[in-house]
Amino acid sequence: MTTRQPDYSTAHELAGRQRDISVSEFFAKNRHLLGFDKPSKALLTTVKEAVDNALDACEEAGILPDIMVELRQLAETRFKVIVRDNGPGIVKKQIPNIFGKLLYGSKFHRLKQQRGQQGIGISAAGMYGQLTTGKPTVIRSRIGARHDAVEVAVRIDTVKNVPVRAREKVLDWNRDHGTEVSIELVGRYQKGKGSVDAYLAQTAIANPHVQLTWQGPSEKEPLVYERATRKLPDPPREIKPHPYGVELGLLMKMMKSTRSTRLSGFLQHDFSRVSSKVAGEICAAADLSPTARVKSLEHKSAEALHKAIATVKIMNPPTNCLSPIGEELLRKGLQKEIGEAEFFVSRTRNPAVYRGNPFQVEVGMALGGSLPADEPARLMRFANRVPLQYQQGGCAITKAVTSVDWKGYSLQQPRGALPVGPVIMMVHIASAWVPFTSESKEAVASYSEILKEIRLALQECGRQMQKYLRRRKRVADEMKKRSYIEKYIPHIGQALRDILELNETKTTRLVTELKDTLERSRKL
Ligand SMILES: Nc1ncnc2c1ncn2[C@@H]1O[C@H](COP(=O)(O)OP(=O)(O)OP(=O)(O)O)[C@@H](O)[C@H]1O
Ligand SMILES: [Mg+2]
Repeated sequence: MTTRQPDYSTAHELAGRQRDISVSEFFAKNRHLLGFDKPSKALLTTVKEAVDNALDACEEAGILPDIMVELRQLAETRFKVIVRDNGPGIVKKQIPNIFGKLLYGSKFHRLKQQRGQQGIGISAAGMYGQLTTGKPTVIRSRIGARHDAVEVAVRIDTVKNVPVRAREKVLDWNRDHGTEVSIELVGRYQKGKGSVDAYLAQTAIANPHVQLTWQGPSEKEPLVYERATRKLPDPPREIKPHPYGVELGLLMKMMKSTRSTRLSGFLQHDFSRVSSKVAGEICAAADLSPTARVKSLEHKSAEALHKAIATVKIMNPPTNCLSPIGEELLRKGLQKEIGEAEFFVSRTRNPAVYRGNPFQVEVGMALGGSLPADEPARLMRFANRVPLQYQQGGCAITKAVTSVDWKGYSLQQPRGALPVGPVIMMVHIASAWVPFTSESKEAVASYSEILKEIRLALQECGRQMQKYLRRRKRVADEMKKRSYIEKYIPHIGQALRDILELNETKTTRLVTELKDTLERSRKL
């Protein structure tokens, strides 16, 4: 009997199989990394990528966003997602690259608070649609009344990660500027947790300046989330990286591509918060000359520089790259969308820093009213005003919430879990670079500085919540006592009438006096 030889390969045979892997091929195989692992989630992710982009574009152009989201059900598991905005539109030449090439965008290299950061979002959604239905992404766009509106259909060549323009035409469009993206895909539509409906409702809370129209697949009329303010968020400013945040590889890359000639100039111009004095201190600590030519420095010097940065005291980065929602609008947003609650608190912390990146935490709470008192509190997580719908367990926000001792704030709490009570909590982290745990941007990484800030904001709101809960309990106890008075005093009156043989008028007077005395003896 002959045994089959295994297919071992020689180095030459291996060499024959070794080749580049395109980023789109990689993500087509690993679509779960981008949030396309199951049909219901794929549907949400597609809507989310398009809406996030629409909001970013409007805000960047200083336009009050008016966004329409439509979901058409074409078959049991086949849908068309249409998202339209009144933003600045997209220059025709750029459309194929934006929608047909992964890792192409305007945000990755800019440090400021924005929803998108990677340059993958919308092209990945289009790629998922194409892989599951064979249909291209269809984009309508117009950049101004004096320009033609265009409709372009784009596919992605996943082997090469390049766009393929399927068709293109000039369009008669009744809008001056804006973008509409349509993607056909295999998905599943359901309501409840992690649904498109929940995402849009929460988007309205964290973006009170947005007018959002939502046409669900089986609804006759669209649902309109009216804006609560006409004031756009203050535009976040772009900042340069802070020295504490750069890793060695990035530092070396920056040294290669800088426009500065000398080391001291490089440190001052390419980073934030580096004065000539600080640059001098870094150079001294690295034992390098401030006038050394940056581009001729070797790996060893870069390493010394990287080490030296950590030893020098450098001011925190500027925080005008952030644009928090603010305490008042947070409360307004919650009040508008959570009608069943009766008390609202909010807190915006001062900016802080993790790994050289500025961030800011905000917490809002809706309390009482007809919110269920015996169920776990509902937690809504937001990063740069985007509601996060998945991976709640793996998120720093959840970890911070469960690590607070809520019993100290008059709520019950099973060990290591969310507290139980009539509370909806929203936690927002705004940052020039949100440290997501994966490319699908669903959970925030647990940096200790971030955990600490969230806990402090929660505790500050917790104290106000406790005052409210105590007052609520006092009022409830009072009501109970009052109901006793109302229930038993008339019987006492009857008994006294019988014992003292009083007439009807005297009995009524006696009962009233008794009630008044009891009421007065207690402080309401
Ligand atoms: N509706 C839109 N209006 C104007 N520009 C848009 C619109 N949608 C996308 N863009 C442009 O296309 C680029 C790519 O979008 P994409 O969603 O792929 O990446 P991103 O938003 O930069 O980052 P992320 O992958 O984190 O979403 C954006 O950076 C933006 O410049
Ligand atoms: Mg995006």
